[in-house]
Amino acid sequence: MAVNQHSSISARIAPLLYFSNNWISRVGVFLVTLAGVLWLFLLPSYLGGHASNAYVGIALFLILPVVFFAGLGLIPLGILLRRRRGLPLADDLPPLSWNSPHLRRLAVFVVLATGANLVIGSNLTYRAVEHMDSVQFCGATCHVVMKPEFTAYQNSPHSRVECVKCHIGPGASWFVQSKLSGAHQLIAVALNNYERPVPTPVSNLRPARETCEGCHWPDKYGSDRLRVITHFSDSGEETKSVLLMRIGGGGVRGKGIHTAHAGQGVKIRYAHADKGRQTIPWVEYTRDGKSVEYLASKANKEDVARMEVREMDCIDCHNRPSHTFETAERAIDNAIAGGGIDRTLPMVRKVALDAIKRPFDTTEQAEREIPAAVEAFYKKDHPQRGADAAKAGRTALDVWSRNVFPEMRVKWGTYPNNIGHQDYPGCFRCHDDDHKSAEGKTVGQDCNACHQMLAMEEKDPKILTDLAGGK
Ligand code: HEC
Ligand code: HEC
Ligand code: HEC
Ligand code: HEC
Ligand code: HEC
Repeated sequence: MAVNQHSSISARIAPLLYFSNNWISRVGVFLVTLAGVLWLFLLPSYLGGHASNAYVGIALFLILPVVFFAGLGLIPLGILLRRRRGLPLADDLPPLSWNSPHLRRLAVFVVLATGANLVIGSNLTYRAVEHMDSVQFCGATCHVVMKPEFTAYQNSPHSRVECVKCHIGPGASWFVQSKLSGAHQLIAVALNNYERPVPTPVSNLRPARETCEGCHWPDKYGSDRLRVITHFSDSGEETKSVLLMRIGGGGVRGKGIHTAHAGQGVKIRYAHADKGRQTIPWVEYTRDGKSVEYLASKANKEDVARMEVREMDCIDCHNRPSHTFETAERAIDNAIAGGGIDRTLPMVRKVALDAIKRPFDTTEQAEREIPAAVEAFYKKDHPQRGADAAKAGRTALDVWSRNVFPEMRVKWGTYPNNIGHQDYPGCFRCHDDDHKSAEGKTVGQDCNACHQMLAMEEKDPKILTDLAGGK
């Protein structure tokens, strides 16, 4: 009786033994089983959302599948190697006949195991691919490398748009392309020889019109838009500029920024002298098949012919839609306007700016010295303002931490913003009244073509009181 039971159990697990009668296959069976059991335990994570932590994410979604598939590969490898050495598949192979219960059991086992492996394997693969597309993986895995972009992204209007929505297109070819360059980047990170700061512009970014227009419909982005920009003087007095931006529709004819560059039948090509596309000596404007070439007065055609030519799209103006690094002055102005820095502290704008514009070798050094510098300034002459000074110091540090990353050599102004013309060349790279066509026409600098100036650094702009109903 006892003997019989024993033999029936061993008959049941016999299929496993056939597959693992060599040590390589045995390791394989062990890995597959381990990964399978772990998968079963962690099933809620695999069916549900994302891991809360970047390293848990890597373990769950990337390492476990590797273990699983490695195990799955080792089993046949072991059998193959055993065959190569001329040994039989198993020491006591059952007779090859359907009447043999051994063979039937073996067949059932193979079918069930293959089914289970397909389910587990496809779920693991799907999750791994999905995880590599998540904001978490892109932004937080190599957290030192991506910290500047990830931080700026979290403070941008696109902080709920996944990285891949802008950086990678759908479909197999984009997938392969991105994973290839991703593997290349991973090696650079592992060898610690990646570029600091991460170079911009991104040479293989997906065509902007495809990505951006997935959410911003060109015929829609049309109406004029009121921009109110708040500034402070060094001593904390507030002024406001009010601009009516001539956005212009993308599809309709008429005036405006978008109509001029991205309207129907418009194509603009330009040559740039530097990699960062900040110096643009040649522009070609095509509308309805008619082209005009503009050349900067100091440029000559031979030099331009050797330069890289690019077709203008959304990114040439909106190059920082998501990684919007601020200038120190604007960031401090916003902090004062928001109340994080108390405007009644004497000379607080200048004190905060001096504190954050000094160079720091490490983040830790800045964390120590920025709040200390602000507090020290008020300690002697305004000891009663200690709490306000401490808060201003902390806010100044926050401003710095969003924009400067010594570990990645990202300083103030490392990544210029092409919208506007006050902080960086921006629109004036072309609109400088210096790019001339053969007929002597220029790419113009008429202030009102781009925006109507409703108020210019005024204390109480009348236009805003009027809009508020005179109050
Ligand atoms: C709304 C679209 C958008 C989203 C979302 C987005 N990016 Fe970008 N990213 C851009 C654009 C545009 C550039 C600059 C391209 C250029 O100038 O050629 C850029 C540039 C970069 C660069 C190059 C360095 C630089 O600052 O120019 C890195 C690195 C980067 N992005 C990482 C990320 C990561 C990580 C995420 C998600 C956390 C992300 N991006 C989300 C649009 C986006
Ligand atoms: C997946 C959708 C999506 C994609 C793709 C996308 N955006 Fe946006 N974008 C948004 C949303 C949503 C907002 C509004 C956020 C808000 O109002 O705070 C927005 C806001 C903006 C704004 C207005 C910001 C402001 O200050 O009011 C600009 C400009 C913009 N996007 C440009 C772009 C550009 C350029 C691209 C392509 C590189 C792009 N977007 C890609 C969803 C997207
Ligand atoms: C010639 C430069 C330029 C190009 C090219 C350009 N834009 Fe703009 N866009 C601007 C400016 C300037 C603004 C206004 C910014 C402001 O109000 O501060 C703007 C505003 C926007 C806004 C916000 C509109 C609103 O009403 O709030 C969106 C969205 C936008 N652009 C999307 C796009 C998309 C998508 C493309 C590509 C098809 C594109 N832009 C091409 C310069 C450009
Ligand atoms: C790569 C060069 C280039 C850049 C950069 C550029 N533009 Fe232009 N823009 C042109 C050209 C070329 C024209 C058409 C000039 C013509 O009429 O032949 C034009 C026309 C315009 C017009 C229409 C002018 C009119 O008189 O109707 C507006 C408005 C405009 N641009 C706004 C902007 C704004 C805003 C920016 C910055 C965010 C900008 N442009 C950046 C090349 C550029
Ligand atoms: C080619 C288009 C264009 C032309 C020409 C142009 N601007 Fe601007 N200007 C812009 C854009 C775009 C902004 C940025 C708005 C924003 O911050 O989003 C801007 C911003 C400004 C600001 C606000 C600066 C701030 O942040 O406080 C002032 C002031 C200004 N322009 C003055 C002028 C004056 C004066 C002229 C005429 C000499 C002029 N602009 C010509 C496109 C233009």
